[in-house]
Amino acid sequence: MSHPRIVAAPPLPAFDYTVFGGTGDLALRKLLPALYLRDRAGQVAAGSRIIAVSRSALDPAEYRAKADAAVRRHVAADELDEELIARFLERLDYVSVDATSSEGWSDLAGRFEGRGDGPVRIFYLATSPSLFGPICDRLKGAGLVTPAARVVLEKPIGRDLDSARAINAQVGAVFAESQIYRIDHYLGKETVQNLLALRFANSLFEPLWNANHIDHVQITVAETVGVEGRGDYYDHSGALRDMVQNHLLQLVCLVGMESPVSLAQEAVRDEKLKVLRSLKPMGVEDVGACTVRGQYRAGAVTGGAVPAYADEPGIPAGSGTETFVALKLEIANWRWAGVPFYLRTGKRLPAKMSEIVIQFRPIPHSIFPQSAGELQANRLIVRLQPDESIRLHLMAKEPGPGGMRLRQAPLNLSFAETFGSRFPDAYERLLMDVVRGNPTLFMRRDEVEAAWAWAETILEGWKSRRDQPKPYISGTWGPSQAIALIERDGRTWHEDELPNAAF
Ligand code: BG6
Repeated sequence: MSHPRIVAAPPLPAFDYTVFGGTGDLALRKLLPALYLRDRAGQVAAGSRIIAVSRSALDPAEYRAKADAAVRRHVAADELDEELIARFLERLDYVSVDATSSEGWSDLAGRFEGRGDGPVRIFYLATSPSLFGPICDRLKGAGLVTPAARVVLEKPIGRDLDSARAINAQVGAVFAESQIYRIDHYLGKETVQNLLALRFANSLFEPLWNANHIDHVQITVAETVGVEGRGDYYDHSGALRDMVQNHLLQLVCLVGMESPVSLAQEAVRDEKLKVLRSLKPMGVEDVGACTVRGQYRAGAVTGGAVPAYADEPGIPAGSGTETFVALKLEIANWRWAGVPFYLRTGKRLPAKMSEIVIQFRPIPHSIFPQSAGELQANRLIVRLQPDESIRLHLMAKEPGPGGMRLRQAPLNLSFAETFGSRFPDAYERLLMDVVRGNPTLFMRRDEVEAAWAWAETILEGWKSRRDQPKPYISGTWGPSQAIALIERDGRTWHEDELPNAAF
């Protein structure tokens, strides 16, 4: 059988990945498939183990059956291979542990007898953040925390600055900061890392990457899905906490940061932190003028009818949680002062699509007659997903005689066409970075807290204004106020090549 799409990689050191929340959606949908794919690529050393942990009373064979089904369901058919699946399942073990009591911890400790300092010891907490502290304490009590052990925390880290600080302090009492890997899976996406390459492996853009040449930046992260059975979590969170405080702000950081001195260790995180600390806080007035919250009503997405947010399972009647946010922020420093960053994200939008648009300023003076057509300013569009690409929109002369006619046309770097290989899922990269001991693409404590400090100004503003989300029909680009937010400034959301949806 041939496997054309995977790129072989040398094995990393052997590991023991203990996954708390092992029967949960994240573990089954993302973590196990990612580990299988890395195993398939040859990166998982012999003797590596994955120990799933949860409260459910399963035996290892029952867990393996679950894992088998999950891998078959979530990995592309041409990447499934019977022999490799069998080998992968053999690496799996299961222990039933109650994170909130002493039950099961000695069984878990038993699994590490005789492992010593050999395999890299990693604890992945794919659980509610309220369990991060208690699990760390119990790991310590069970004697499982060695100086080289690592802990991975899945977002969200808290729901505001205070709770994030409390979690960071609890985890920090057991693990040193260098042992803590806070995941933001957007940082593991190929095109997000490509932003570093675009900016710092090319000399073309950096001289223009500032307020003198850039008119504004847009970041859109649109999803077609609703709350997908996560109603309880989502209703306590909302789009600002679920997406903006972490994924979108990380994108702002990568677009906005200064050049790090290298990719090593702390350099990238130091630069991202400076951006977060330069975000202009929003006063109550700014929150009214610069943010829009929305909540989806029933409608149709990708051809199918979908219910309103309020009718999704687990959502209380009259919920005031937002499923859409649009906002305008400013990075208050020399490079970016006066350049608005427009961000929007939402569920039940017309397409699943994430992109960053860098809109350059118009030319200072036109030498062309009016008949040449409208001169549009250059745009650089980084499409993160799907159809990963970087497109630079330039003005060009339409071919043919009959005078000068100008039209905007893109230089298009499509990653699929250029590189041909498959794009690893973000989790594949990040899970292996933990094994490597490379924290560059993880969030440091001060970063998480700085992001909350800024996001909290918006949460407080909404609260004091008793702001209620504006309704939008599922399958549209959010409430009309989100369009007004950018159009008031004489700009428009970039929606070429996207499905149109009337309001
Ligand atoms: C998660 C959010 O962090 O990111 C989800 O909790 C969201 O609500 C998801 O759907 C989006 O990730 P991706 O990789 O599908 O863009």
